[in-house]
Amino acid sequence: MPSTLFGYYLLAVVAGLAGVASAGLPSKIYGVNLGSWLVLEAWMLPAEWVDMGGQQCDDCSTCIASEFAFAQAFPNTVDAKFDQHWSSWFNQPDVDALVKAGINTVRIPLGYWLVEALVNRKTEFYPRGGFKQLRRGLSQLKKANIAVILDHHALPGVQTAGQMFTGRCTNDVEFYTPANYHRALVWTSVMTALTHLDPVFSSVAAIEAVNEPIMDATQTPGYGDFQKNFVQTVRATEFSVGIPVEGINVPASFKISSNANITSALSQTALAGIFNPEVRSALTEAIPIITKMMIEATLQGVLSSSLGALGVGKRDPLVTNFMDINWQHNSPPNPADAKIGPQAYDNHLYYSYGVADPNEQAYLTHVCNLDRIQNDAALGNSPLFFGEWGLPTQFAATDAFLFKWADAQKFSYSKGAGWIFWNFKIEISTLAGDTARQWSYMEGLRRGYLTQDPSKLHDPHVCDPYITNTTSSA
Ligand SMILES: *[C@@H]1O[C@H](CO)[C@@H](O)[C@H](O)[C@H]1NC(C)=O
Ligand SMILES: *[C@@H]1O[C@H](CO)[C@@H](O)[C@H](O)[C@H]1NC(C)=O
Repeated sequence: MPSTLFGYYLLAVVAGLAGVASAGLPSKIYGVNLGSWLVLEAWMLPAEWVDMGGQQCDDCSTCIASEFAFAQAFPNTVDAKFDQHWSSWFNQPDVDALVKAGINTVRIPLGYWLVEALVNRKTEFYPRGGFKQLRRGLSQLKKANIAVILDHHALPGVQTAGQMFTGRCTNDVEFYTPANYHRALVWTSVMTALTHLDPVFSSVAAIEAVNEPIMDATQTPGYGDFQKNFVQTVRATEFSVGIPVEGINVPASFKISSNANITSALSQTALAGIFNPEVRSALTEAIPIITKMMIEATLQGVLSSSLGALGVGKRDPLVTNFMDINWQHNSPPNPADAKIGPQAYDNHLYYSYGVADPNEQAYLTHVCNLDRIQNDAALGNSPLFFGEWGLPTQFAATDAFLFKWADAQKFSYSKGAGWIFWNFKIEISTLAGDTARQWSYMEGLRRGYLTQDPSKLHDPHVCDPYITNTTSSA
């Protein structure tokens, strides 16, 4: 297709009002994060980490305390060591435990290095082989009927300083640059294509653009444009496979034949002028990577099939996810401005990092009167889920308090689209100490802080004494 012919067609974004997440996400999310699986954070499994050959240090940039440092130190054994970790940290017994706990959604933190072609091996060091393990886990989750959010948790170039969760502890934060935004878009197209074409991805319902970008928006230049390109990359990939995309203006003369295969369809979209050049270039780069990964997954048959025969066009579009606008300050971009099709927003809330005064009364008063859902909705960031939270506190919490603390948080978070606990599990070891008590869903369930049915509370009236009568959230 001559690109000039369609170059003047603009995207007409139909701004939906408080849109329903719909598509494949449950109407109320009761979820857990599969943290430390494909993006390992040593603090959650310190004994295993030391056993693998990792180290512990106060400033995680000064020792072998991240995947990057580990891969750099042990280039010959890193893949085998991580493969062992991936197999043991999350597998069928864990899926069975989630099913028994009534969990309907998992958020899977992923690194950009899962798409191995995106890694510059001269300067970037990460384990290989995660894709195979992701596919294994997805097929288990699919059988368990658990919805999946693919969470781009550790971005190319690193999105925030000094954090194990970015895969590399460093102050050299380079994500907010054109080259790394671009790599993230290629990653996005690859993941979107796999979601719709690889049968083991069929319970994937959503894709999250960036986990926890820097909170000061003056330090994230270009992030607003990236948000728009992220959604357009998802939709351009979906458009290519025949999934109807609301609100894009396609010339009547442009049609991808249902006889086209995936590479041909993506090339046609990349050549047409429907999407902007940055998005089209991401699609072009994604094509050989998708091909390679599908061959690795022995899906040659899917590659050579026509999209019509595969019936992909009948699939639900992915729900695009962003951290909510209020995650950032200093005039942040609004992810609602990027919306095309179903979209949902993610807020993370850890009281242990100083949300309220460090005492029981202040914690409960704050969470019972939480105004984040309304404040976000006023800016179009709805539906909102709480994609990370837990039971940690800045004070020594009694068991009696943790029962209330779990109830009160669930009470408030459930008024939105639901919640996703951090984390599904924590290592039980001498080195880990009591970390599991307040950070592990499975341990919280075992100790009874969390209810066997996640939609229930021990005490539905837990917030009654704390709800201030001026700002009733009832
Ligand atoms: C996909 O279609 C194109 C164009 O018809 C063709 O050249 C290519 O060989 C096909 N790819 C596969 C894997 O069948
Ligand atoms: C708010 O009013 C209700 C009923 O009038 C009362 O039970 C509750 O204690 C009040 N809450 C506060 C924090 O004063």
